[in-house]
Amino acid sequence: MTTKRLTLTDPETGESFDLPVREPTVGPRVLDISQLYGQRGLLTYDPGYTSTASCESSITYIDGESGTLLYRGYPIEQLAKQSTFIEVAYLLLHGELPTQQQLEEFDHSIRTHTMINESLLRFFNGFHHNAHPMAMVAGVVASMAAFYHDSTDIHNPRDRDIFAYRIIAKIPTIAAAAYKHMRGQPFVYPQNKLDYCSNLLHMFFAVPSEEYEVDPVAAKALDLLFILHADHEQNCSTSTVRLAGSSGANPYAAIAAGISALWGPAHGGANEAVINMLEEIGTVDRIGEYIKRAKDKSDPFRLMGFGHRVYKSYDPRAAIIREMCHRVLERLGRKEDKPLFELALKLEEIALKDEYFIEKNLYPNVDFYSGIIYRALGIPKSMFTVMFAIARCVGWVSHWREMVVDPSTRIGRPRQLYVGPTRRDYRPISER
Ligand code: CMC
Repeated sequence: MTTKRLTLTDPETGESFDLPVREPTVGPRVLDISQLYGQRGLLTYDPGYTSTASCESSITYIDGESGTLLYRGYPIEQLAKQSTFIEVAYLLLHGELPTQQQLEEFDHSIRTHTMINESLLRFFNGFHHNAHPMAMVAGVVASMAAFYHDSTDIHNPRDRDIFAYRIIAKIPTIAAAAYKHMRGQPFVYPQNKLDYCSNLLHMFFAVPSEEYEVDPVAAKALDLLFILHADHEQNCSTSTVRLAGSSGANPYAAIAAGISALWGPAHGGANEAVINMLEEIGTVDRIGEYIKRAKDKSDPFRLMGFGHRVYKSYDPRAAIIREMCHRVLERLGRKEDKPLFELALKLEEIALKDEYFIEKNLYPNVDFYSGIIYRALGIPKSMFTVMFAIARCVGWVSHWREMVVDPSTRIGRPRQLYVGPTRRDYRPISER
């Protein structure tokens, strides 16, 4: 096969040279600049990586113009309707939908690795009761590196599998321990008879003094949210996991780095920020004031849950969650949840008619409506991003595994456009 090439001319030397163009299976062509510095002494500049493909990947595809999201080729709408989070996890990790037997074996493996070492559990006593749960979860996940020395040879496929299954199985238990610590309630051990999301709800909301029945509507709603959050190609936290992992770091430490990156309000922290914003807006008549603030460049306020680096149309995940809000609130919602949802709908309607949002292609993203569901499930705001992290863990692990076996993987090491002082001589303090 002949490689297509793109010719460039260096205005300084007048020399022309060409670079290979890589063809994806679908999506924009990619100019391969990997030899550019070695051959031409030139670097590229791309803050925020808006035009940079950092790796080859066959896990997730997004078309931001049409609002398409595919996991291993399967449209998110079909998975949301017909699949389960555990099946999607298998798909993302292994590349294909499982057979019945493969699914049963995978589900069994995850269910039977949910307990965490009791010493890890004791770590929570060291946190203040008002510690943010993302800080606790990131810290405890990083600490897993200190516990599982038996299986962290990243070049051993079996060790990679054990790591993958362990972290996916245990992260809900760690999240639940963080929640119980915040609430001052006793930790509730996992119940392996329960499916992934039912087990999570049980660990969160059961108390030793009462019977607790998991509501199947709540478990199903959580499962659907987890499917939607499971992966999103080379986003900030996934790229962080890849970058940390590219040095050969312990994989639990790489996942902890991803959790930290996810926490920010421009990324996974937006779900918490959306509810804070809606509560602050309070009533429909105040929406105009906040839209005005979002458009004012001298005001740092942004409409949280709006806009996306890749989607320049409606985020397909937001469309599914908005639809889901109607059903879930009907079945579960407390009376205070509906007005918040109605306020969000109105805010969306007003923003989407506003010239500023139209011109900049700003639409609701996955975080705009997800907090409304989490809230209806009884999950406190500070735990929303932890929920996102549990689901996204599957994506992080899938990308980490892909990276480790990719022969083109090298340590991630970007360069820079240096704009600091040129060489100068040190002056003794008495002469400054
Ligand atoms: N409210 C008001 N203006 C906005 C918003 C917003 N939410 N988002 C983008 N803009 C404006 C921005 O000011 C800029 O205007 P101009 O061209 O005049 O300077 C233009 O739109 C492009 O924005 P950008 O910041 O250059 O775009 P980006 O791709 O660097 O950032 C984003 C994407 C998601 C960080 C941003 O849209 C944002 O801050 N949104 C609010 C936070 C949010 O909802 N984050 C969740 C993202 S989706 C889930 C996830 O990643 O976890």
